[in-house]
Amino acid sequence: MKITKICCIGAGYVGGPTMAVIAKKNPNIQVTIVDINQERIDAWNTEDLSKLPIYEPGLAEIVGETRNKNLFFSTDINKAIDESEMIFISVNTPTKTYGKGKGMAADLKYVELCARNIADVAKTDKIVVEKSTLPVRTAEAIKSILHNTGNNVKFSILSNPEFLAEGTAIKDLLAPDRVLIGGESKDAIEALANIYGSWVPQEQILRTNVWSSELSKLTANAFLAQRISSINAISELCEHTEANVNEVARAIGMDSRIGPKFLNASIGFGGSCFQKDILNLVYIARSYGLNEVADYWEQVIVLNDHQKRRFSDKLISTLYNTVSGKKIALLGWAFKKDTNDTRESAAIYVTDHLLSEQANIAVYDPKVPSSKVYDDLNYLQTRTEEENNSLVETFDNPYDAINDAHAIAIMTEWDEFKTYDWTKIFDIMKKPAFIFDGRNILNKEEMSQIGFEYSSIGK
Ligand code: UDX
Ligand code: ADP
Repeated sequence: MKITKICCIGAGYVGGPTMAVIAKKNPNIQVTIVDINQERIDAWNTEDLSKLPIYEPGLAEIVGETRNKNLFFSTDINKAIDESEMIFISVNTPTKTYGKGKGMAADLKYVELCARNIADVAKTDKIVVEKSTLPVRTAEAIKSILHNTGNNVKFSILSNPEFLAEGTAIKDLLAPDRVLIGGESKDAIEALANIYGSWVPQEQILRTNVWSSELSKLTANAFLAQRISSINAISELCEHTEANVNEVARAIGMDSRIGPKFLNASIGFGGSCFQKDILNLVYIARSYGLNEVADYWEQVIVLNDHQKRRFSDKLISTLYNTVSGKKIALLGWAFKKDTNDTRESAAIYVTDHLLSEQANIAVYDPKVPSSKVYDDLNYLQTRTEEENNSLVETFDNPYDAINDAHAIAIMTEWDEFKTYDWTKIFDIMKKPAFIFDGRNILNKEEMSQIGFEYSSIGK
């Protein structure tokens, strides 16, 4: 099966970078990314590559190389579906906020809308690839929608979960540990394997059945998140003993069976995937009556929520049990460095708690726009938008955010935070000047020497 035209529905954090790399590595294939959001598509088409809607190191260069050659961004979804032999579904699948499965199950309405759109438009055979993270057996639902169109078009459905991490998306796409393709049709699987084969060695392209592929994605994220909750659980124990969580992580990480990655104690994991995928796993397990399995994985989330909460609790108790009317400067709002994505960022929940204690919050993040900070807080509906507006201020410059603050809370591990003039920062803060390092990026001795009251995670 020769693929000449690909369409990707959803121009987000997954669709954008993935298609940009596929286009770069397959100059003979025309790749069109479509989205219902006109503003987002306009931003992808903007002349100024520093204004793309997604910040990812290396992405702007690849878009600059391929855009309007074999990579196109459009809102004409029907045209792109009609022309393509292969269609990726890469739309968002947030946790449901209503009805059955509220707060647990994935909301598949956007995926279903895509499937119905494809079913309506397709006049020729198509390979449909699910790229969004989906609960197990979603491909079955897509298949059922597509196969009941009555227009005699043949659809092959593949599951091809994305393992890229934000902030390193381009690096992960260019040199993936593996590519996973689940499906029934051998021809369809090989057609997709050929596209990846332009740059990924064949032995790293795994072929499985659809359900194994879907479940592998949820399981990979659950295992990764579990490591973070495990080390975060130990971090609390370290704070009550003489142990240092960095030393513990190093010691256990040198055991080749454990390995050194994903052992950084932190303020708690965020991002669009970990919590959502574990909740999905828990929901699916419970729906099969597997309560022990569900409880086991649910604890990863319980511990993560606890980690975020105990960070803000500690900040409040250290500031003499009150933050009311005090300025707290937050460094970082993104859920990790090198991305402008803020979904499920710990900063949102820490701020929400501090605002309930009547703190004044000053936010600086090198890549997150001010409007996103307010949107994230308003979305929680803990207080009115007016109250959020009056208690929270955002800054383009870290020194202005920190000026006159009682405390600094480091939320994101941006590299630039390490290079600030911390002596100058000490001088412009109220005394005692507190730092709560939620990412363990600063040096305790140096900070104490300058005069800060410095506390970090797990030490
Ligand atoms: C994750 C998976 O890594 C990726 O394979 C999948 O495709 C999508 O979900 P992502 O959420 O983009 O990727 O970033 P990741 O690097 O996994 O970080 C997730 C969260 O965990 C961040 O908030 C990060 O700061 C935190 N984290 C990560 C830690 O707290 N400690 C660590 O050691 C590693
Ligand atoms: P992800 O991190 O999974 O890429 P994003 O929210 O960044 O998630 O991107 C998903 C994109 O999918 C959004 O830009 C959204 O507008 C788009 N989208 C959602 N539903 C549809 C649809 N039915 N047709 C086209 N685009 C859609």
